[in-house]
Amino acid sequence: MAIISSRQQSQNPDDGEQPKRPRGAKKTPKQAPKQTPQEAPQENPLLQPEAKVDEQGKQEDSIRPHRFEDYIGQKDLKDVLDIAMKAAKSRGEVLDHLLLYGPPGLGKTTMAMILASEMGVGCKITSAPALERPRDIAGLLVTLKPGDVLFIDEIHRLSRMAEEILYPAMEDYRLDVTVGKGTSARTRSIPLVKFTLVGATTRVGALTSPLRDRFGLVQKLRFYEPDELSKIVIRSAQLLNTSINIEGAEEVARRARGTPRIANRLLRRVRDYAEVKKCGEINRTVAAEALELFQVDPCGLDWTDRKMLSVIIEQFNGGPVGLETIAAATGEDTQTIEEVYEPYLMQIGYLSRTPRGRTATQAAYKHMGFKQNSSEQLSLL
Ligand code: ADE
Repeated sequence: MAIISSRQQSQNPDDGEQPKRPRGAKKTPKQAPKQTPQEAPQENPLLQPEAKVDEQGKQEDSIRPHRFEDYIGQKDLKDVLDIAMKAAKSRGEVLDHLLLYGPPGLGKTTMAMILASEMGVGCKITSAPALERPRDIAGLLVTLKPGDVLFIDEIHRLSRMAEEILYPAMEDYRLDVTVGKGTSARTRSIPLVKFTLVGATTRVGALTSPLRDRFGLVQKLRFYEPDELSKIVIRSAQLLNTSINIEGAEEVARRARGTPRIANRLLRRVRDYAEVKKCGEINRTVAAEALELFQVDPCGLDWTDRKMLSVIIEQFNGGPVGLETIAAATGEDTQTIEEVYEPYLMQIGYLSRTPRGRTATQAAYKHMGFKQNSSEQLSLL
C-alpha cells in the first residue's frame, strides 16, 4: 500500500509538544502556580502521550501493526470496524467516514492505516494545522484515488474555511471552488472520487456539530488494560530483536499509563539499559531498575499527577476541588488537566469527578502514602 504522508510540523510556536487548544476555545490564563521554585514542575518526557518528533516517522512505523489481526486491544472498536469493512466490501462501496476520538497515543493513526490496508486502498495522512489555506485541503482531495482513506489528525483544529470545503466533499464527493472575486465570483463544483475521511481528535466535544454529524461512524479509543499493554511490549520487543520475559513486559506495561506509545518508548529505554549493563533477557528486576533510573513511577504517575493528588489530599482533605484550583496549583491549563491527566487518574481509580469537583480515592491516599481515617482527618502513614 502506498502511504503518502503529508504530515507536517506545525508552524505555530504555541504548538511544540504541548497538548493542543481547540479552535475557539479560550486559553486558560496561566495563574501563578502555588508551588515554590524548588518544586517547579518536572515532567518526565518519557510519560508524555504525544508523539515526539523522532517518533513520527520510521521509529514508530517499524513496530506499528499493519494488519487488523496484529492490532492488540480495542476489541469493541475492532468489532465495529470489522463489520463496517465487510459490509462496505460486500456492497462494493467505500467505508463510511469515521471519527476516532480518545486520549493521545492510543493508536488512532495506526487504526486508519490498518483500515486502508485491509480495504486495499491508499492512505494519506495529514493534520488539521497543516490545512490552513483552502488550497491545502483542496489539493489533497483532488489527488485521492477511489476508496482512499484521508486521515486528518486533530480534526477539531480545522479552520472554518477548511471545514466548509470538507462538508460537500464528505457528503456528495464534490469540491466547491470559488472562481473570481467580488460581484463576478462564481462557485464551480468539481467532482471528487469517493473516499473515506478518518478524523482523529482528543476532544470530540470541540468539533462543530455539522462536522461531527457527517461521520457515519464515531468511535472511542480507550486506555489499554495492563495485559493488553504487556502483549504489545512483547510484540514490540520481538520486532526490536530484544529478549524480554513476561514479568519484564508486565513491569514496563504497569508504568505506561495505559498507552502503547508510552509503553514502546519505555521499552526502548529499558532495552538500552539492558544492553549497556549486559543484563541479557529483560526481567522484572532489570525493567524496574531501568525505569527507576529514568524516574518513571511504578504506576506511571508524573510530577503533575502527583501534585494534583497531593493538593486534593493535603490542602482540601480529599476534595471535592474545582478544576481551576487544580490547574492553578499545578501550573497546567485546565484543558490539559481534563484531557491528559484526569482520564488516566480516573482509569486507575485514583480520582473521581463529582458535580462539586474532583475527589481523591482511597487508592490515591495509599499510593501517595497517606491514610484516610474515619473522621476524614489526614495523617501520614
Ligand atoms: N503498537 C502500538 N499499538 C499497538 C497495538 N494496539 N497493537 C499492537 N502493537 C501496537
